[in-house]
Amino acid sequence: MKVVKSYEMKEIDRYTIEEIGIPGIVLMENAAMSVVSETIQLLKESNNVVICCGIGNNGGDGFAIGRILSCNNVKVSIIIIGDSSKIKGDAKINYDIARQLNIDIHEFYDDKQIDEFKNIVNDCDVIYDAIFGTGLCREITGKYLEAIKIINRANAYRIAIDIPSGVNSDDGQILGDSVCADKTVTFCLPKVGLLLYPGANYVGDLVVTDIGIPNISVERINSHTTIMDDNLARYFIPNRVKMSHKGSYGKVLVIAGTSKMSGAAVLTSLSAYRTGAGLVKTFIEESVSSVVTTKVPEAVVETYSRADINISNEDKEKLLEMLGWADTIAIGPGLGNDNITREILEIVISNFNKTIVVDADGINALSKDKEILNNRKCEVIITPHLGEMSRLIDYDIGEITNNTIKVAVELSKNYKITCVLKSARTIISSPNGMVNINIYGNSGMATAGSGDVLTGIIVSLLGQGLNASDAAILGVYIHSKAGDKAKDDKGEHGLIANDIICNIPYVIKSSLN
Ligand code: APR
Repeated sequence: MKVVKSYEMKEIDRYTIEEIGIPGIVLMENAAMSVVSETIQLLKESNNVVICCGIGNNGGDGFAIGRILSCNNVKVSIIIIGDSSKIKGDAKINYDIARQLNIDIHEFYDDKQIDEFKNIVNDCDVIYDAIFGTGLCREITGKYLEAIKIINRANAYRIAIDIPSGVNSDDGQILGDSVCADKTVTFCLPKVGLLLYPGANYVGDLVVTDIGIPNISVERINSHTTIMDDNLARYFIPNRVKMSHKGSYGKVLVIAGTSKMSGAAVLTSLSAYRTGAGLVKTFIEESVSSVVTTKVPEAVVETYSRADINISNEDKEKLLEMLGWADTIAIGPGLGNDNITREILEIVISNFNKTIVVDADGINALSKDKEILNNRKCEVIITPHLGEMSRLIDYDIGEITNNTIKVAVELSKNYKITCVLKSARTIISSPNGMVNINIYGNSGMATAGSGDVLTGIIVSLLGQGLNASDAAILGVYIHSKAGDKAKDDKGEHGLIANDIICNIPYVIKSSLN
C-alpha cells in the first residue's frame, strides 16, 4: 500500500477535484461520513461530544461531522480555534450550514475565552480533533498550543481527523505538542507521519477510509513509500513445489559467531531453516563449532581458525570453495570486531557474485573501511540498527533517529545497496529510491539476538529466489509478525530471540491462508 506525504495528498486531491471534476465539497462530505461511520458506535446516547475545529479544510471536515452527528441526535458542541472570519471555501460552506442549523458553536480566539474552552472540553466525553490536518506547516504556539494541552488533559476519548493536530504528516515529528488520539481516521491513504515515531505514539488505532477518490488519482502519484500489509505478504512468500528437493530452496551460507557470541550463528542458521531454506552451511570458528552442531543439527558446519590475526591460506581456500557452493550469504552476526572479520568480508564481497546480507560485525567492519563496498561483485543488503548506522555514516544517533528515511535512502543511493535500518519503525530502502516502512513489531523484540534472527530470515528468502528488496521487506515483515505473535503468547517482558524463531513458520503459514 502506498503511503504519502502532504504534497502528494494535495496533488491527489487537486487532480480529483480539478481534472476529474469531483467537487471538493463532495470529498469533504464523504470524509465526514466516513469518520461518523467509523466512530458512531463509540458514542452512547448520553455523550457530550465536542468538535475542535481549525480554520482550514480539516476544520471543514469537523463542521460537517458536527452537522451529521447533530442530525443523528448526538449532543454536539463545536469550538473554533482561531479567527472564524478567515474560514473559506468548502470549510466555510460547512461552517455556514452548521450556523444555519443552530449547532452550538463557540470560539477560542484569545485568552478571554480560555475558561469557557476549558469548561466545555472538561465536560465532554468524546472529542473530535479537527484543528490541523496535513496543512500544519510550522511549530504550534499560542492558543493552538493551549488548546492541545487542554484537550490532552480532558478525561475524554479523542478522535483525530486525518492526523492528530501537531504531528507533521511528512516525518512524524511533533511540532510543539500534539493531540494524543485514541483513534485516528485518515483519508484515502496513510500519511508518512502517522507511521513514524514519535508521531505514531499520538495516533492510537489507525483507520484508513475511502472517501471516493478514484484509483486513477492515486495511481498517477509516484509515491516512493509503501507499507507491507497482511494482504500483500502472501504474494511475496516463495512458492513450494511438489517436485522439488532441498537444493530447490536455497543453499545458504551463514558466516557468524565467535567464542564470545557463538549463539549468533545458531540464531541466524536456525532462522534461515525456519523460514524455509533447503540447506544451511555455517562457517564458524573451530573452537565453538560444537555449539552449532548441537543446537542446529540440521546445519552443515565448516570451521576455520582464529588463532592468528590473519585468516590462513587454507581457510581462505575453504571459504572460496563455499562461495562457489552458496546461493546467498549472511555475514556478520557475532563474528567479532577484528581483522579476520574484515578479511572474510572482503573475500566474500570481492568474490561472490550473488546477493549477501551484511549484519552486525560485518557492518562494523564496513564502518572502518567503506572502500570494501566499492570493490564488490555481489549485491548487498545491510541491516544496521541505529548505533551501527551511526558508526557507518558517522552521524549522531539522534540525527539518524529523527531522519530515518532520509539517511537510509542516502546510503542506498550512494552505495547502491539495500538498507534495512532497524528501529521501532524499521525502514527498508532500495537503490532505486523506494522506501518501505514496517508497521509491525513490539518492544519485546528489543532483545539480544533479535537482529540475528532477522538476518537469518532475509538470507533464507534470498536463497528461495526473492530479489534483495523483496527479501528485505518480506523478511522484516515476517520477523515483526513473529515477534507480535510471541508477544500475544508471552507478553513483551520475557520475549527472547528464540520465541521469534519459533513463530516464523506460523506467520508464514497464516499469511498464505
Ligand atoms: N499555527 C497556526 N496555524 C497554522 C499552523 C500553525 N502551526 N500551521 C498551519 N496553520 C494554518 C495554515 O495557515 C492554514 O490556514 O492552518 C491552516 C491549515 O489547516 P489544515 O486544515 O491542516 O490544512 P488544509 O490544507 O486546509 O486542509 C488539509 O483537509 O482534506 C482535509 O482533513 C483533510 O488533513 C486534510 C486537510
